[in-house]
Formats: sequence, structure tokens, C-alpha cells
Amino acid sequence: MTEPAEPDRPALRGEWDRFLQAAERERRAGEGRPEGVFPHYSEDGSWRLLAVDELSTWRGEVYDHGNWTAGFWYGVMWLLALGAGDARAKELTRGRLPRLVPRSTDSTTHDLGFLFYPSLVLGGELGFVDPGEAAAVQAANTLTARLNAQGGYLQAFGPIGDPRSAGTSTIDTMMNLPLLWWARERGADVHLGNAARWHARTSARLYVRDDGSTYHLLRFDPVSGALRHQGTFQGAADDSCWSRGQAWGICGFAWAYAATGEPEFCRAAERCASYFFDRLPDDAVAPWDFGDPSPTPTRDASATAIACLGALLLGHVHPEADRRGRWRRTGLDALERIGDACLNTDPATQGILLHSCYSKPHGLGVDGATAWGDFFFGLALALAVDAIPLRTVLGFRPPR
Ligand code: GLY
Repeated sequence: MTEPAEPDRPALRGEWDRFLQAAERERRAGEGRPEGVFPHYSEDGSWRLLAVDELSTWRGEVYDHGNWTAGFWYGVMWLLALGAGDARAKELTRGRLPRLVPRSTDSTTHDLGFLFYPSLVLGGELGFVDPGEAAAVQAANTLTARLNAQGGYLQAFGPIGDPRSAGTSTIDTMMNLPLLWWARERGADVHLGNAARWHARTSARLYVRDDGSTYHLLRFDPVSGALRHQGTFQGAADDSCWSRGQAWGICGFAWAYAATGEPEFCRAAERCASYFFDRLPDDAVAPWDFGDPSPTPTRDASATAIACLGALLLGHVHPEADRRGRWRRTGLDALERIGDACLNTDPATQGILLHSCYSKPHGLGVDGATAWGDFFFGLALALAVDAIPLRTVLGFRPPR
């Protein structure tokens, strides 16, 4: 199949170079830190660091995710090792993997994909660590144990079966599934792939509204599996659209389509992507929530970075050539614009992709860098400039 000719994009190559320069600054900062703490999000130009063994917990009625972000630091370092041939990045990252490994049996969170895909899975696919790393397979099994078979969803928050959160599911989980798609490819128990497919089908059915926007949080009756509530945890309102959740949906559904070929996932990804990209301002930096009525809402560049990766995936795997071209151009354009607006070139400021927001309702990191924004921005850039093959990003052979 012949793809439409793509104009060369020197601006994106320049952006990839600037990403690598910023990642090198991050490597130097990491060398000076204790081994067990990792960037979470930044405030006032400095990282808020979090210990990797900080587990999720309930503080009264409020759920704290704990450390769900350490994996992204490993991923940024792998991208630096890949793009700049930085041997020190590779050695530093390898040396800190033992800190992460105990989380592979953590049964208090769905975030095991965020912890283990950018670190052990991507590191293995790039040839930097053993590609069959047992801890990544263990993490996939631990995540799969969160399947609630009555509701057909992977429990999002808290210990498995905990009455406060046994019925929770979030759109974010769609981007924890890449760990399971990878494990399935490596011959893991067939149950892992089935659980991922089942969760994705439930998500396509219950998260995506008629206009293509998404809910963030669903609550089920964990015993009967009946849907009880569609709402939010980090968004502005139950009926609004939290932009990062929307981006997790775009990328997660596109990845699920690449893994399964199920047309429903391609449609869900496209509908979510149309809603997202149609509403971006000129600089492509997403508002933190598309329902915020302010003329100058808090922004979340990390949401755009994730959505760009999703658009680029559609640009590779969509079954129709004209749609592939459209989504590739959409992803490349937005990536270029957020690079112009948000790529940090100031050595005195920590982080790579600025103007991101962790959680506006919780007052956390409302204008700074985020561990995930830096990683997904770098991964999308690497894919955009062909520094990394699609097969390596996905961790399995793509459908075409
Ligand atoms: N998964 C949590 C977040 O996106 O903030």
C-alpha cells in the first residue's frame, strides 16, 4: 500500500534534538538524586519527587494514587540512550531498575502499565534490558487479577476488592493495557489478552459519549456488575470532559485497535480524537478540561502529547489510507506546535514539557512539567521522526 507523500518536517527534527538536550539535563539531575525517588510533577520550576515504593492509599474519603509515575523517568532515559547514544543514561537507568521491580506485585493500583511499560517493556524492546524481563510479566499478571468479571472492567483504584473502590474504573486504564497487549504477544496466559479486550470493549461502550467526549470515572456495583454512575475524579464536573482522560482514551483505543483489529476500538479512538483536536487553541496546548468556561483556562500540554501519540498510531494502523494521512498530519502539526509553546530550553527550570497540569481539583502541579508529559512527548517525537519503529513502540507486530 502506498502512503501519501509526507513533506519533510525539519522543525520536528529540531524539536527531537531539543528534547534530547533537555533529557540530558534530566539525566544529570537524576545522577545527583537518591536512587529510590523519581520526578512526579513540577511546581515553580522544580520537580516534586516521590519515592517509588509509595503505594496508593485512601486518606479518609480522598484517594491518593501513590507513585504511578516512576516508570516514565526510565522511559525518558531510554529515549535519551536511543536518540543521543547516551551510554551513561543507559547505565544509570539499568542500575535503578531493582528499585522498581517490587512494584510488580503491587495489588493496590491499576497503574502497573504506567510503571512497567515505559521501563521494562520499552527497555526490552529497545534491547537495553532482557526483553523477557520476568518482573514485567509479573506486573501484567498482577494487573489482570484486577478484572471484575461481573462488570467486565479492571478495577482502577485501591486494593482488589476493597469496598471503597472495588467498583471503580477510569478511562486512564486504557493506557495501562499496553502492558497486557505486550505480555499477550510474549505468550502469556491467554487470560491476559482476553481481560484487556474485555476491559477495552466495556470502556468503548460506557466512557465515550455521543459527541465523542468521555467520562473519567465509572462506578459499578462490584457484586452484580451493574453500572451505577458515570462521572469524574480529576475533571471539572461529571458531565465535562477532562482533557487528559480524553487523551488516554484516544491513545488507549488506538493501541487496542492495533492489538486486536476490532473496528469498534478504531471508531472509539477516532471519535475521541476528533473531539479533542477540533477544540484545541492555536498553540495546540489543551485546556485542562474542555468544559472550563474561562477564556484563559489552566492548560495541560501533557494531554496534547498523549493525544498526538494516539493520532500518530492511527496514522499507522487505520485501515483507510486517507484517514491514516489525516491523523498523521494532525498528530505532527500538534506536536510541532506544543514543542514551540512548551519545550523547556531553560537549564534553570526542571522538566521537559512545561505547561502541563496534574490535578486542578486537587490543586496539584497546575502549571509545570509532568513525568508522563515528558515521556509521551518524547515517544511521540521519536515515532514522528522515525527514530523508533512502530513495532518497538507497540511491543508487538502491528496489523499491516
Ligand atoms: N492516571 C492519573 C492521571 O492521569 O492523572
